[in-house]
Amino acid sequence: MRQSRWRANEKDESRVIECSLEGSTKKMPLSGRPISSPKRDGHAQTSWERFFPYYAGFPESFANEILENLNLKPGATVLDPWNGSGTTSYAAVHRGHKAIGLDINPVMVIISRARMLPFSEIDALEPLAKAILQGADRRAAIKQDDPLLSWFDVKTATVLRTIERSINDNLVGPRTLSSNDVDLGQMSSIAASFYVCLFSVMRDLTKPFRSTNPTWLKIADVKDKRINADRALIEGLFTTQIEAMATVLSTDVVHAAADQSFDIRIADSTSPQLSRGSVHAVLTSPPYCTRIDYTAATRVELAVIAPFVAIDTGSLGRKMIGSTRVPVGTVERDDSWGPACQKFLRRVEQHPSKASNGYYIKTHVDYFDKLARSVAAIANSLKSKGSAIFVVQDSFYKDIHNDVPLYLTQIAERRQLALRQRADFEVRRSMSGINPKTRNYRKSSTAVESVLCFEKMSER
Ligand SMILES: C[S@@+](CC[C@H](N)C(=O)[O-])C[C@H]1O[C@@H](n2cnc3c(N)ncnc32)[C@H](O)[C@@H]1O
Repeated sequence: MRQSRWRANEKDESRVIECSLEGSTKKMPLSGRPISSPKRDGHAQTSWERFFPYYAGFPESFANEILENLNLKPGATVLDPWNGSGTTSYAAVHRGHKAIGLDINPVMVIISRARMLPFSEIDALEPLAKAILQGADRRAAIKQDDPLLSWFDVKTATVLRTIERSINDNLVGPRTLSSNDVDLGQMSSIAASFYVCLFSVMRDLTKPFRSTNPTWLKIADVKDKRINADRALIEGLFTTQIEAMATVLSTDVVHAAADQSFDIRIADSTSPQLSRGSVHAVLTSPPYCTRIDYTAATRVELAVIAPFVAIDTGSLGRKMIGSTRVPVGTVERDDSWGPACQKFLRRVEQHPSKASNGYYIKTHVDYFDKLARSVAAIANSLKSKGSAIFVVQDSFYKDIHNDVPLYLTQIAERRQLALRQRADFEVRRSMSGINPKTRNYRKSSTAVESVLCFEKMSER
């Protein structure tokens, strides 16, 4: 049983429920301090976050506050198994901790590594940018199957590719000559920064193919006109991005972040990645359960890095939690997901609407299977008495409430993670509201975002 109380939060228009968990005699992970809203708003963004706008995840101010309240010792290891743009990792390193950030999407790994650029390297950005542009091979031809041709005409794609190749030759190194696959966990922050600037140029240029849905980028079909931009324009955009990044970083940077203080790399959270009991705290937000194809959000960035990170976007999409693709084999439901999740899945399966007992039940089962396997791996890596903080949104399948925070709590409890504190915030524009079809079933697109604070119990 838990007690809860609602109150209006005038500042961010969200309602908050604070829960004290009855019968809990243990000290709460956040020392009983109130939890602020993890909602993203323009004001809470730091200048770096504005530089690469990311639709998912919580703001840096939230990550800082949580880590502060956890009272971790300097050098403690903080894990984000769904690292995204690296907010947790950045805040952890900034506070003197060691950050481990894992993400299955190589684009997010590059973005997060760029965010760690040490202060001492900022001055090198502008001269290096000049060298990269001068070094771009103007005579090089583009391969016929280059994925950039999905949006750009041949001339424009060639200019973009030669700049990308020049970044690679200058900063990623000869490893790419013998092997296609670069270990992104070794990519320097400065190389990553140039890729992020090129990503920004791409985002600007591909605006005609974007919609109001931040997770969607259309691929041009035969009827669509390909984007045409000349070398001078592209070089100008690239230089402007580099200058903006240098300015932003000189006021907003992890000072002298030693390379060994972070370990940010590609990894699949559904299988164990870290040794048992090696992590002091986890702060993360899992992917949403709203049938959004997250690989589509980074399509153009994946196309940029295609020459050195061999990616089959179809299989990446399938591995992602919250994938819109039906899993290849049969995924069995597991009792360890708890009774509330099982009941929800039965209701989805029995829903009278088309494909509920086909496509939709399969993708929902796949979501909880991957979530449960990830929670098991996360719990295994956490030290006894360590804290795990999850920021989770609920959603709806048609008119059925998908109470992910509750299901995650029941999954976690079976992995020795005991819920100690919870705060709920109503968010007006949720990821599930992005899907226009939800309006056929529900008028409002609000969701509840919950901050769940667990403590790892000692193994029996
Ligand atoms: C909600 S976002 C995390 C946002 C992050 N906390 C932030 O502040 O930027 C979820 C992330 O999980 C990643 N992801 C999805 N499936 C994954 C998997 N199987 N293993 C690791 N990462 C995965 C996605 O690529 C995405 O970046």
